[in-house]
Amino acid sequence: MSFPIGIFDSGVGGLSVARVLFDSFDNEIIYFADSVHLPYGNKSEKNILRYSLGNTRFLKEKGAKLVVVACNTSAAIALDSIRKNFPDRHVLGVVEPGAAKAIAQSVNKKIGVIGTVRTIESRIYVNELKRLNSDVKVFQKACPLLVPLIEEGFENEEIIDSIINEYLKNFVHSIDTLLLGCTHYPLLTRRIAKLYSWLKIIDSAEVMASGVSKFAESQSFSAHLKFTESRKKRLGQIKIYTNDVNEVFERLCKHFFPGIRFNLV
Ligand code: DGL
Repeated sequence: MSFPIGIFDSGVGGLSVARVLFDSFDNEIIYFADSVHLPYGNKSEKNILRYSLGNTRFLKEKGAKLVVVACNTSAAIALDSIRKNFPDRHVLGVVEPGAAKAIAQSVNKKIGVIGTVRTIESRIYVNELKRLNSDVKVFQKACPLLVPLIEEGFENEEIIDSIINEYLKNFVHSIDTLLLGCTHYPLLTRRIAKLYSWLKIIDSAEVMASGVSKFAESQSFSAHLKFTESRKKRLGQIKIYTNDVNEVFERLCKHFFPGIRFNLV
């Protein structure tokens, strides 16, 4: 039986998650970017919920058996409702695998979390990190300017450094680990690493392959996952859908998936 893996985000952020899963599994990958409603990060809970359910419905219609919510904002607000509304699909968010990696990496157990306004307000990372280790000290900060800057293609511009520093300056010298609680932020990893050389930076995309494997074991569907034996022999396919296109989406699509055309729906 084919077992496609669906992934959604509000825009380009989840493409990094899609790339990691595409490299790890031969299952068909279906990616949906809800670019029309971007950004999710400061929308009302009601709308984030509505968009997230719509995205899941779209992926289900395309055949996805596992839905990876590659948007922290959706995972923070809508994960439980998605699971309730789609009991016939497996649904995994990005929060748990990222939090587990941060706990494993941090030596002083002082962890910074950055994300969108709704993700930070929800305290989902604080709760998950504390569930994993009650002694951990979590410093969190919403960074609402970062997603628009990334979506505008400013991720490699020096101007973004002062904005990052403004957001992190109050706690960056206390922490040893910074969890990127928004799938857009990995595009800033190089700049953040240059600014604060001592930080371990946790990109939830990187841990999603093992996150999917562990989730599959816990839900007893591991037999449906086909692990890629070698990147050269990859058998899987990716289909990318978006409901709006801009120059940044085209550029990042080419960057993550050279030679693959996306579909406008
Ligand atoms: N990339 C998404 C996240 O992880 C959402 C960014 C946005 O649309 O504001 O939260």
